[in-house]
Amino acid sequence: MKLCMIGTGYVGLVSGVCFSDLGNDVICVDKDLDKINNLKQCIIPIYEPGLEELVLKNFKNNRLKFTTNLKEAILKSDIIFICVGTPTKKNSSAADLTQVYDVAKEISRSIAKFKIIITKSTVPVTTGDEIEKIISKKISKKLFSVVSNPEFLREGEAIRDFIYPDRVVIGTSNKRSNKILKNLYSPLISKGAKYINTSRRAAELIKYASNAFLATKITFINELSNLCEKINVNIEDISIGMGLDKRIGSRFLRAGPAYGGSCFPKDTKAIVSTSDKFKTNLSVIKSVIKSNDNRSSLLLKRTFEILNNKIKNKKICFLGVTFKANTDDMRDSSSLSMIPSLHKKGAKINYFDPTGEKNDFKKLKNVTFSNNIKSAISNSDLIIIHTEWNDFKSINFNKLVKNKNYKIFDMRNIYSAKKMSEQKIKYFAIGS
Ligand code: UDX
Repeated sequence: MKLCMIGTGYVGLVSGVCFSDLGNDVICVDKDLDKINNLKQCIIPIYEPGLEELVLKNFKNNRLKFTTNLKEAILKSDIIFICVGTPTKKNSSAADLTQVYDVAKEISRSIAKFKIIITKSTVPVTTGDEIEKIISKKISKKLFSVVSNPEFLREGEAIRDFIYPDRVVIGTSNKRSNKILKNLYSPLISKGAKYINTSRRAAELIKYASNAFLATKITFINELSNLCEKINVNIEDISIGMGLDKRIGSRFLRAGPAYGGSCFPKDTKAIVSTSDKFKTNLSVIKSVIKSNDNRSSLLLKRTFEILNNKIKNKKICFLGVTFKANTDDMRDSSSLSMIPSLHKKGAKINYFDPTGEKNDFKKLKNVTFSNNIKSAISNSDLIIIHTEWNDFKSINFNKLVKNKNYKIFDMRNIYSAKKMSEQKIKYFAIGS
């Protein structure tokens, strides 16, 4: 099939590359000329394991093309995926849909035969209705169908998530579109993905509801971990004990720092904004947002306690600063608030991240980057394991750290407290 992906950000690029790998002809469009020129040389703008190899393979076999010419890409394609950004509006918690509607206007000027127009960007309920309205101002409704097909790709696991999704959600009441899209996704359905056809509005809401639910699950276990710390119970036992109940499930039940990334913070706010617009009250999600906003202060307070409230000149090392492992993404990472706060209190921060130095901390005088674990931790008073990279899972701390009285605050509960105590390491974890 002939597809075009409008927007070569995370969603558009990964989906476009994977669709081409499944044998489709895909044109990826972006208005950023530098990005497109780089992609033509297989220089990838994001860190995503396995993506570069797939771009190279499909670009070489001519199934994957990159362009800035939106009009031509639309004309040449039967299925058009809108994958542009939907950031949070300034001074509001609603999603900013300017880019989506601009693309819809451009599409309305470029349709000559039947096209399926799909929102893959995360868009609030009724956005599909609005896109349909915009396009039908110029084009007969017989010539297009607007469908919602949300993505559920995790950064760092995006290619696997694309090829082996739990479900493919297609929101349309148009039978022709449904048939074509079921066919497009048939290689994934034959590998076990469930295919569900819903109304367009339901598909739009499924995406927000899923992310808000996962954010709720994490926040629930994070709050329980606070209780566990007071009553000498290990949160890991609680996660295992709860997770084995099939109605609950063990995934996204790991306590840690505040959740971050490009989706959960933005999407929880946007779904609340939608519910406010329709005068209902998503009080659970409102409470999740508040609790998560407060999480970094709570973990900072614990850090101060671990250091007996003596922060000035303490050498603190952060292992990992991105919002999670296997990504270079710093968006809404809790390190962005924790490191400056500790720095302000007079701590000397050193950090190592497998994805390299971050611009976010370059202006802070006493925050330095080390390019390996050994030099990062060797002089530390406190080592904070902030991100759960595999690289941090079997460090011989006693061998590498010179300072005799060092402490470890493991915010991802990677290590066993028992083994740490056997090695006489002063070890603190979340929820125990
Ligand atoms: C998320 C959704 O999972 C994906 O379906 C959606 O389409 C995009 O947003 P992503 O933002 O890449 O994906 O990260 P994810 O793996 O979901 O983690 C989000 C945050 O939750 C991270 O900060 C992570 O550290 C945290 N998390 C996750 C926990 O704290 N505990 C867990 O058990 C799981």
